[in-house]
Amino acid sequence: MRISVVGSGYVGLVAGACFAELGHEVIVVDNDSRKLKALERGEIPIHERFLPELMARHHRRRVKFSGDLTDAVRASSAIFIAVGTPPTEQGEVDLSYVESVAREIASAITSYKVVVEKSTVPVYTSNWIRTVMLRNGASRDLFDVASNPEFLREGTAVTDFLYPDRIVLGADSPRCVSLLREVYQQLENGTYYREQFAIPGPDNASTPPPVIVTTTQSAELIKHASNAFLAMKISFVNAVASISEAVGADVQQVCQGMGSDSRIGSRFLNPSIGYGGSCFPKDLMAFRAVARECAYDFRLLDEVIRINEDQRKRFLQKVRSALWTLKGKRLGVLGLAFKGGTDDIRESPAVLTVQALLKEGCTISAYDPAAMNRAREVLGSSIEFAPDAYQAAKQADALLILTEWQEFATLALPRLHSLLKYPIVVDGRNLYDPLIMVEHGFTYYSIGRQAVAPESYAAGVAARGSRQTSI
Ligand code: UDX
Ligand code: UDX
Repeated sequence: MRISVVGSGYVGLVAGACFAELGHEVIVVDNDSRKLKALERGEIPIHERFLPELMARHHRRRVKFSGDLTDAVRASSAIFIAVGTPPTEQGEVDLSYVESVAREIASAITSYKVVVEKSTVPVYTSNWIRTVMLRNGASRDLFDVASNPEFLREGTAVTDFLYPDRIVLGADSPRCVSLLREVYQQLENGTYYREQFAIPGPDNASTPPPVIVTTTQSAELIKHASNAFLAMKISFVNAVASISEAVGADVQQVCQGMGSDSRIGSRFLNPSIGYGGSCFPKDLMAFRAVARECAYDFRLLDEVIRINEDQRKRFLQKVRSALWTLKGKRLGVLGLAFKGGTDDIRESPAVLTVQALLKEGCTISAYDPAAMNRAREVLGSSIEFAPDAYQAAKQADALLILTEWQEFATLALPRLHSLLKYPIVVDGRNLYDPLIMVEHGFTYYSIGRQAVAPESYAAGVAARGSRQTSI
């Protein structure tokens, strides 16, 4: 099938490459000519696992880049809209890019097309797209508007696309449903998974994925409700972490106990300095606004957002309690991306924490395996950028772990200890076992667990004859 994907961002580029992997001819359209030129040269503007492999396979063969939406629409049966949907000042969604794309598509179509929302949009956006297209001269029988939400996590977006938990097709006519099914046929009938050069899936992948056909409104709601629910899970566990700290419990043990109930599940139960990224913060606000518009006061979502913001403040408080005063302190920071595995710093709790610490008068040396260039655009010369984790720690009063990169979980602890001015680690992602940290001589603070220090550890062992970790 010939498919156009409008928008070559995190979502559009991955979707385009994956559609090509499923055998389709893809035109990725963008209105940013610099970006297009770079893509055309074979550059990949984002850090995303397996995307380089897919582009090497398909670029100039099944994937083409273009700035001409009209031509792309005429050549395609399905047009996926994946342009940005940024938040407005009021927390609603700015749908002006989606609208302008819909207008352009309307004036281009001369035969039946399916226009598919891929960007996360509020419920009823599909109705608006339809209205805008009709107002701009598209004939009613020449198009359908569908919603096919993506559930891609940055960093694992390619495997999330090819090995999804489910494929949601929100469409209101049988013709539209069957065209969308054709797009995902290789996944639904499992042929992709038998291919010799298929991108390897995660260990727990269950294939083939179920296809869930819904109305467009339901599909739009599925996306917002899923993201809001996942964010709620994180805020819930972060609240439990605060209680764990207060009562001397260990939140990791609590999570293990909770997560092994299959009704709850262990995923998205990791305590942290809060969720960030281009989706959760924006989608929570947008879903809240949608609920308000339809006269439902969804205050639970306010609480999810409040707990998330509070979590960053609590982390700052933790740094303060580790160092007493902050002014003039030198801090090593590991992680700037909003999570591990990506170079994206949009709404990154790590960057927000760094900015708050700078305001308190700290000096910061930071390292991130992928997000340094993007962070430099925002933080400029306000911090030092270290070439690796150890250099970031050098002569620091404390080391802060702000992003859950795998490589931060396997640092050489004796080396780290010798580089820090004071062996203090404040871990916002619980990457280490407190017992191991204290045995390596660190004073170690984490989320939802007791802080530990070598002096009190030694005293505890002497007094009780047992390994006691808290201070
Ligand atoms: C996506 C989704 O669109 C958003 O709804 C979801 O919540 C997060 O992910 P993302 O792919 O991250 O957004 O957006 P971004 O990286 O900003 O890319 C959007 C692309 O669309 C850009 O390359 C931009 O140049 C392009 N664009 C934007 C157009 O081609 N036309 C426009 O009118 C506007
Ligand atoms: C999310 C959704 O997971 C995805 O389905 C949707 O399509 C886009 O939004 P993404 O923003 O890429 O994906 O990242 P995700 O892995 O969901 O993490 C979001 C944030 O939550 C990150 O800041 C991460 O560090 C944080 N997080 C995640 C936690 O703090 N604890 C967890 O247990 C999981």
